[in-house]
Amino acid sequence: MVNVRLGDIAPNFQTTVSENGQAKEIDFHEWLGGSWAILFSHPDDYTPVCTTELSAVALSYADFKSRGVKLIGLSANNADSHKGWIKDIDALSPNGPNLEFPIIADEDRKVAELYGMLDHLDATNVDKKGIPFTVRTVFIIDPEKKVRLTLAYPASTGRNFPEILRVIDSLQLGDKYKITTPANWKKGDDVIVHPSVQGEKVKELFGDDVKTVYPYLRFTADPSSKHTV
Ligand code: BEZ
Repeated sequence: MVNVRLGDIAPNFQTTVSENGQAKEIDFHEWLGGSWAILFSHPDDYTPVCTTELSAVALSYADFKSRGVKLIGLSANNADSHKGWIKDIDALSPNGPNLEFPIIADEDRKVAELYGMLDHLDATNVDKKGIPFTVRTVFIIDPEKKVRLTLAYPASTGRNFPEILRVIDSLQLGDKYKITTPANWKKGDDVIVHPSVQGEKVKELFGDDVKTVYPYLRFTADPSSKHTV
């Protein structure tokens, strides 16, 4: 079902979205501009797990924005359905921010087919006519429009959005410095010196702050706090 792979340019499409109570047309590449973005799908409006997910994303929207990441949701519902459901989501957190990002109204499942968001084998995730809903996919797209992460979760399991933020932090740090990030890493923790950094380059980039566990496993402090490359 995966049509879009890591390193692909995110396929372009034109579609209708619901945003701040309005239906409007967008060209996806124009909408992306030169920004980081997350395109993510949910199975259906007015369903329990999806409601908790969209509410969680609305509440952490500022965390995505502060990292320069735009968000765009998607399901195979129409713009009127999105508009009504978003009111329910906003009402769940009356003192929190409203859901401000667009949700694609992919009624004809054109974008879902293009990105491989439909899981034809999940017999529990179908509409009343037996047509598959979109599964819970996530695509992280970088400023060059390149796909940097793909995820697909089952309908039964709500996603962990702090994990998506953590991946954004890792990708953005890795694009800036010659580092990778270890298991369970979080912003501020030590990082791994990229295997391509060898010889004099190690000292040039990371000074004396390199802890060598094995020749192929070398840790250094989060470079965003001290180094520039
Ligand atoms: C839910 O959001 O709860 C859900 C949606 C579609 C299928 C199963 C669960």
